[in-house]
Amino acid sequence: MLGLSRKAVLYGSASIIFLILVVSLTPITSPLPLYTGPYEVGILDLETEVKRRTIHPATLKETGNKAFELETLAITIYYPSALPSLRSQPWARPWLPQPVSLIGTGYARLIGIKFAPLQSVVTFFLWALGSKTVIPGVVDAPVLSVNPDDVEDLGEVVNKVGMGGKVKGQNNIQEVLELRDVSNGPRLGQETEKLPLVVFTHGMAGMSQSYSHYLGSIASHGYMVAAVEHRDGSGPGTIVHSANGDERYVWHMNLEDLESNPPLSSEDLKTVQLNFREAEIQETISLFSRLNKGSSEHPIINLKPKSPESALSGFKDRLNMSAVTVAGHSYGATGALQALKNAPNKDMPINGAIMLDPGKGSGPLNDKIELPTLVMQSGGWTEKQVEFYGQGWHFDVVKKLVANTSIGWFMTLKGSAHPSCTDAPLIVPWIMRLATKTTLNGRVALREYIDTSVNFLEFLRDGSKKGLLREEVSSPAGPLGDAEKRGEVKGPHGAEWEIHVVPKE
Ligand SMILES: *[C@@H]1O[C@H](CO)[C@@H](O)[C@H](O)[C@H]1NC(C)=O
Ligand SMILES: *[C@@H]1O[C@H](CO)[C@@H](O)[C@H](O)[C@H]1NC(C)=O
Repeated sequence: MLGLSRKAVLYGSASIIFLILVVSLTPITSPLPLYTGPYEVGILDLETEVKRRTIHPATLKETGNKAFELETLAITIYYPSALPSLRSQPWARPWLPQPVSLIGTGYARLIGIKFAPLQSVVTFFLWALGSKTVIPGVVDAPVLSVNPDDVEDLGEVVNKVGMGGKVKGQNNIQEVLELRDVSNGPRLGQETEKLPLVVFTHGMAGMSQSYSHYLGSIASHGYMVAAVEHRDGSGPGTIVHSANGDERYVWHMNLEDLESNPPLSSEDLKTVQLNFREAEIQETISLFSRLNKGSSEHPIINLKPKSPESALSGFKDRLNMSAVTVAGHSYGATGALQALKNAPNKDMPINGAIMLDPGKGSGPLNDKIELPTLVMQSGGWTEKQVEFYGQGWHFDVVKKLVANTSIGWFMTLKGSAHPSCTDAPLIVPWIMRLATKTTLNGRVALREYIDTSVNFLEFLRDGSKKGLLREEVSSPAGPLGDAEKRGEVKGPHGAEWEIHVVPKE
């Protein structure tokens, strides 16, 4: 036993030395590109107390504590900010959640490594790949406002974030707003128009940070985007910060980690996790509703350590609570669908959904949807078909579900793979190309996803159909039909799409 662990330590330190060499000799990571829309993006990590409840009584074998206890809500908010266009890469925060060891240990546990020194190797690997990457954006920037009086301290903010002191004082505010064309409202049209919301839910083994370019870009087009950091045991690791200062770690959970009477099946576990996610989505929407009402008696307290909150007061009366769209990737898309079960209603005033690669093994998909829906699948996801919970091929199940919504689009971006909507293809492009065999450039794939998502969100706002939303069906049966009936259409950045379902009219 001792010999074995000695070997592992040796193996571990050799890998570390090797990795240091690799990392120092080759530029293996690329910086994240700037967002695609006209607005500068503000970012906030927010954790708030919610009404404490147990989603399921199962406990953890490791600690004996309840496994599915909802205590706080953690989200990352990306929002359009009142700041003028910044000349250089703006001040931002690290892409990897801190501490890195939390996520490193989390991923190690996720792939079954229980041995601490080996967990450190995983942490090192993550650190090596991710520590130089920063998320573009300005932490705690003032939210986009239609009224220049609301941003009288703009000059101060601009100085604070170190933009070279080019924009100073109140006199320049008009100039600043004109620079960004905010006074004319390029996207937000009417002076009274409020920011629509997007609530995003991540995939299995994902984190709320993993989609920063996709989500930040949507925000840069004039949307308030909240990425939920799920505490359902599907991510690598997360820390719950209680109001009394306590910290609780939530690691990735497998069936064997849980104690329950009667025991949970793997399908039960998914149901419990999806219920947990649904509760977090609901809490996100009610948090926004509170921020929109703005209360000085019960201000929102940010429990996330070292994370500011001063921009939150600017959210008052700025959010359009009747324009809430849910979006998700993979397991998250399945979760977003579940959240639509009884929507729209008072607690879930949802107007539509965006789903990226809806889960193949995350439980049956809710098909009772009466809201506009956009499903975008990666080429890899569409090509590889599986029998889906006795309902037929996954492709057909998704197709029927979309056709049955009041208004729905279902399309496939050719040459892309399951992780194409995450930041991974931007940060480690060649690793992703090798691992996923994509033929479409990673940046192009993301721009296609972003533009089509923004077109759909604009459709929800004003009924206009732009870009791919105007196309006819080109490939009704996708991978299940004849090869010659799989037509393609060109996307806004030259990529090829197959269109499977469009709204009937
Ligand atoms: C809120 O969103 C709805 C639905 O998109 C839209 O009809 C309405 O005009 C928006 N209201 C404001 C104040 O922006
Ligand atoms: C689609 O809607 C029709 C009519 O409302 C219904 O009979 C059918 O079961 C639905 N199909 C699915 C997959 O939900």
